[in-house]
Amino acid sequence: HGSSKINSNGHLEIGGCDTTLLKERFGTPLYIVDEQLVRRRCREFIEAFHETGLKFQVAYASKAFCVMAMCALAAEEGMSLDVVSSGELFTALQAGFPAERIHFHGNNKTPEEIEMALDAHIGCFVVDSEMELYLLQALASERKQQVNILLRVTPGVEAHTHEYMATGQEDSKFGFDIANGTARQAVEQAIGLDHLHLLGVHSHIGSQIFEVNGFQMAAERVAAFSREIKEQLQFSFKVINLGGGFGIRYTEEDTPLKISTYVHAIGEAVKTHFSGLYDELPEIWIEPGRSIVGDSGTTLYTVGSIKDIPQVRKYVSVDGGMTDNPRPALYQAKYEAMLANRAQDANEETVSIAGKCCESGDMLIWDVELPRPNSGDLLAVASTGAYNYSMASNYNRIRRPAVVFVNNGEAELVVRRETYEDIVRNDVVPQRLVRDEA
Ligand code: LLP
Repeated sequence: HGSSKINSNGHLEIGGCDTTLLKERFGTPLYIVDEQLVRRRCREFIEAFHETGLKFQVAYASKAFCVMAMCALAAEEGMSLDVVSSGELFTALQAGFPAERIHFHGNNKTPEEIEMALDAHIGCFVVDSEMELYLLQALASERKQQVNILLRVTPGVEAHTHEYMATGQEDSKFGFDIANGTARQAVEQAIGLDHLHLLGVHSHIGSQIFEVNGFQMAAERVAAFSREIKEQLQFSFKVINLGGGFGIRYTEEDTPLKISTYVHAIGEAVKTHFSGLYDELPEIWIEPGRSIVGDSGTTLYTVGSIKDIPQVRKYVSVDGGMTDNPRPALYQAKYEAMLANRAQDANEETVSIAGKCCESGDMLIWDVELPRPNSGDLLAVASTGAYNYSMASNYNRIRRPAVVFVNNGEAELVVRRETYEDIVRNDVVPQRLVRDEA
């Protein structure tokens, strides 16, 4: 997909760049991001929303892949930005992301994080708890600032997804529950706090979702809640945020819908369920992460040792693994791969791709069809743009890979490969343990 193809040398080419040349120039493992495809995904959301006629904001959920170049690109595409920590906020601000388009999430924002966001005058806080309401009011009043907020509510919708990603049920660490009345109570409290300006509510029902009915049901629940608030408290929400969670294709088992299908379904549900409630339909915000960057990313590895256990399995080890992609180990996530330097060769055998970490669970792919791989071959794993670099670790003191943006035959480094100095940068040896070289 995107601008990848097999070139006349039989090599995988992404964004007009031959992957074997990318390996020579940048080394492996290497994250490659197809810039045009990221831009296309941003535009698909924005154009589909324009078609609904609703007022909207599309906030890129930066947790999926948060580096300065990505924030700058999202800003250029007219996106808003969802951040969930001071680290993501700092990255966005360093990249010059317009503060008024930043939304700050999280179930346990610390006072320091809130102050950083107040200093920057970000556009909106998504308040997650009663404690946060009062903390934000106190800190904003000290500075004589007015802050926009949404209240995160749990609509009780369970999307079909991996258990760890389900966040819309009642039993959740996130938000105020609608069903048991805490959400209504939070609205009342927020209205009474004079430094907070309540814009509306937020809900997020899960991730990697392949159906529209979860979003439609969330819109319906939130609309019913909005009606209740209007009737009981004479208060109107101006903004409804329906979160992220739009699925992408990792393997043929995945059956995502088109971005426009998700957006149009949301638009219709909003029009149906909010009709007649307010003078004007509320502004709709969403927060896609995976669907913006997921399928734009490819990870390149070099094949190293190969262990063949006849009649059992062939383990093909690569120079990365759970440190650059923890998703298979964490969620049993499945990926597809190909040999990027022999992209035209027919698949001849089923092998399993192992990482280089010292634990048996470090397997990237169980059973993938490949041309008989040799040591030195270049393996490309697809759809690694989301929750790979952003969840990477230094386990086994492995250095994080570089990230390059490819576009129109040009490759630009956006994150340099970590060095050994980076690995020990924060280490401190107490004086009594310093080794005397003499
Ligand atoms: N908004 C909120 C409030 C969220 O919690 C999330 C994701 C998103 C938006 C973006 O969801 P997306 O469009 O990317 O599905 N590490 C897991 C995914 C965790 C998602 C957490 N929240 C993974 O690798 O699959």
